[in-house]
Amino acid sequence: MRPALVLLQSQCLLCVFSSVCVPGVVGSLPPAMPWHVYCPARCVCQIKPWFSSDSVYHEAPTVDCNDLLLTKLPVPLPPNTHTLRLQSNLLSVLDTAALSGLSNLTDLDLSQNRFSHVRMLTQSSPLPSLLSLHLEENHLSHLHNASFSSLPVLQELFLSHNNLRSIAPGAFFGLDYLLRLHINNNRLTTVDPHWFRALPRLEVLMLGGNPVDALPEKGFVALKSLRSLVLGGMGLRGVAEKALEGLESLESLSFYDNLLNKVPTQALRRVLGLKFLDLNKNHIRVIQTGDFRGMAHLKELGLNNMEELVSIEKAALDDLPELTKLEITNNPRLSYIHPQAFVQLSRLESLMLNSNSLSALHHHIMLSLPSLQEVSLHSNPLRCDCLFHWVTKDTRHAHTERKKDTQTTRAVRFIQPQATLCAEPPELRARRVREVSSGEMSASCLPTIPASSLPSYVGVQEGDKLLLHCRALADPQPELYWVTPSGLRLAASTKNDSKSSTITGPCRNQTTLEQSDSSNKSVLQLQSQDPTPCQHLKHYKLLPEGTLEIRKITFSEAGLYTCVAENALGADTRSVTVGVHSRRKNRKKGAANKKGTFQAIRADAKLELREVGEHYAILSWQSRHNLPSTRLSWQVIFPNSHMPTYTTRILAGTHRFNLTHLQDGTFYKVCLHLGIGDSVRHTSVLLKESRRPRCVSFRTNDVPEIQAGLQLDPQLTSTAVTLLLLALILLVAGQGWDSEPGDALKKSHHAVHQATEASKTVVVNQKMQKDPKQPNQSEKCQLHQIC
Ligand SMILES: *[C@@H]1O[C@H](CO)[C@@H](O)[C@H](O)[C@H]1NC(C)=O
Ligand SMILES: *[C@@H]1O[C@H](CO)[C@@H](O)[C@H](O)[C@H]1NC(C)=O
Ligand SMILES: *[C@@H]1O[C@H](CO)[C@@H](O)[C@H](O)[C@H]1NC(C)=O
Ligand SMILES: *[C@@H]1O[C@H](CO)[C@@H](O)[C@H](O)[C@H]1NC(C)=O
Ligand SMILES: *[C@@H]1O[C@H](CO)[C@@H](O)[C@H](O)[C@H]1NC(C)=O
Ligand SMILES: *[C@@H]1O[C@H](CO)[C@@H](O)[C@H](O)[C@H]1NC(C)=O
Ligand SMILES: *[C@@H]1O[C@H](CO)[C@@H](O)[C@H](O)[C@H]1NC(C)=O
Repeated sequence: MRPALVLLQSQCLLCVFSSVCVPGVVGSLPPAMPWHVYCPARCVCQIKPWFSSDSVYHEAPTVDCNDLLLTKLPVPLPPNTHTLRLQSNLLSVLDTAALSGLSNLTDLDLSQNRFSHVRMLTQSSPLPSLLSLHLEENHLSHLHNASFSSLPVLQELFLSHNNLRSIAPGAFFGLDYLLRLHINNNRLTTVDPHWFRALPRLEVLMLGGNPVDALPEKGFVALKSLRSLVLGGMGLRGVAEKALEGLESLESLSFYDNLLNKVPTQALRRVLGLKFLDLNKNHIRVIQTGDFRGMAHLKELGLNNMEELVSIEKAALDDLPELTKLEITNNPRLSYIHPQAFVQLSRLESLMLNSNSLSALHHHIMLSLPSLQEVSLHSNPLRCDCLFHWVTKDTRHAHTERKKDTQTTRAVRFIQPQATLCAEPPELRARRVREVSSGEMSASCLPTIPASSLPSYVGVQEGDKLLLHCRALADPQPELYWVTPSGLRLAASTKNDSKSSTITGPCRNQTTLEQSDSSNKSVLQLQSQDPTPCQHLKHYKLLPEGTLEIRKITFSEAGLYTCVAENALGADTRSVTVGVHSRRKNRKKGAANKKGTFQAIRADAKLELREVGEHYAILSWQSRHNLPSTRLSWQVIFPNSHMPTYTTRILAGTHRFNLTHLQDGTFYKVCLHLGIGDSVRHTSVLLKESRRPRCVSFRTNDVPEIQAGLQLDPQLTSTAVTLLLLALILLVAGQGWDSEPGDALKKSHHAVHQATEASKTVVVNQKMQKDPKQPNQSEKCQLHQIC
């Protein structure tokens, strides 16, 4: 056994991950001793000590002729040479006769030379003791049948970084004792199962860096002893279900730097003995529920350096009783780890989550990891608020659950605590997370949809499938819904496991959305009588955590999609423009569509007063479009004095608003300002037209006589009311009001209670505070003096 193999059998399985496996435990070895023999010119002859895998001490007589620009073998070589180093020379032919006398030669290093054929060095002169042959970085392009049959006891063969394009099916014939084979970084385009039939004892196979885009089914079935397989940098887009079949002893597997767009779950089910798995640097977008299920022996898992990873779903890592180390780092778009992403990871000790886009780590995650010892969270845009309460040292205000958290997390060590900083809220920015007290962190938090999870534009080809991932963390847990360009509102059920959602509204019959739960959560709200939006429904599917799937996308589904995350405290929204490109590059269609959109917006959205009370008014409007930047403004109409105007943003997909905290017996003007979104910039006249606010004016009801004296605003004397009426009439005349004012007011007296399902609107504070004019609830109270 050679030193390299010592490593392999102990900790090397890990260093294979990074594909550097530097042989030699050099530090602990005694120094080389002089070897008193006749040594070829310029070479160095020494006795080098080393330990075998079973820790037996050996002394290897070594001839070192590295880096000498040799074009032929230096002769004569000492007959008892064990190790011969000829690295970095100019050899292209080997005088094999000169080697034939070296019956004790075990190690031959010919890397970085000019060999183009293996035949030239192995034919005719068997090397009966050779265990290790280095041929990396030569010019080999083909291996013929039985290339190495003169090396009957060879254990390690290194052929990486050559130009191998083809390998004969029987190339490795005769290598019955081979343990390690490196053929990575060549130009192989296929993997031939025949190669491996000759290698029953092979333990390590490095195959990466070859342009193989698909592995054959059962390609490795002969490798019953294989323990480590490295398939990095190959351009694999998927892994066939049976690709890994027969690898009974496999412990370490690397798919580093491929094009996998999801975890190859089916293939992994064939190698359940796996201990180390590296999926780093792939194109995986979501780690899904049960992706690693059944991997009872998995100890370490790497999910690093994925440009596209956005989400780790509920129970994504489920029942991995041996998992001790989990690395999910350097994923620039990863902003969401479900609070129950990790289930039954009873041995997880080390959780690396640094350098992602995470805003927090939910305390449920800490609770589900009883053995956790260290966590790294630095280089994330951390939000030091409710979701992060478990971090704080201060437990004075802790209730029972929190206390439990703190106990669990107290022992957890932060890696690089000095670099684990709050990014939000502004007053805690750049503070070390661990030094913030619980009193400084707010106890609840608004939803935030991270900018990194949804791009502002996505282009797809007609007929393709599109997945839009929307995630938000908050406490209380937010509800998510999507609004399509045609104004359809589609909600995911975040609370339950049910696959998808119920449909309400006139599209019920046309839909193919799975109707898996019977709860009546208003899931899809269709505001218009126009049947066309229903036709789109068959393409849409809501996945449980907030992913909108659009199957077989058509031109008519292009446009602005908005995701809304809402909890009791407020909401956040994020919009994405979906462009659908023709496969035949026909641009006209898209343009025509936009024009149509604006025309329709213009026809849309008439603001109507539905109901009016003493202190509130319910307004509604129609829209067959997604208008996420819509605002509602209102103002007391009072002559001769400028009254403040209040505005609030209207959540996408909302068509009704209950304006509260109004003064009784007062005239108001309310306007709806439609907005498509800042991302859509068009200078068209049509757009300008659509920007014209829709307004309605009304008077709130009077409070019944007895109380009126108490609450009537002193400003509102009866003369003022008269003046106001006059002003209102003038105003109405000037505005070109489409509906009759009398009609609206009459309706309000009837106080018809309209069904308001799915119209729950939240006056959005923090997130919507971009608009400085908008008061928060308490400000509103003060201004109206009715609190
Ligand atoms: C090879 O090693 C054996 C045992 O150490 C030794 O007896 C023999 O002389 C060596 N052969 C040569 C050619 O030196
Ligand atoms: C290679 O060897 C196999 C058997 O090991 C034989 O069937 C095949 O014909 C050989 N091919 C060549 C090109 O010699
Ligand atoms: C979730 O689903 C289960 C049954 O699958 C039901 O008992 C439970 O009430 C549901 N919870 C919510 C919040 O809908
Ligand atoms: C929709 O389905 C219901 C039964 O689920 C049926 O009574 C109704 O006629 C259907 N409507 C249309 C328009 O197909
Ligand atoms: C769902 O709503 C329908 C009426 O729209 C009602 O009859 C039914 O009882 C509701 N179901 C549940 C589970 O609330
Ligand atoms: C509108 O808000 C007022 C005041 O909060 C409330 O009394 C009224 O019931 C609400 N109306 C509807 C339909 O929600
Ligand atoms: C609303 O504004 C008032 C005055 O600016 C402030 O004292 C209060 O904390 C704010 N409330 C919320 C919920 O932001």
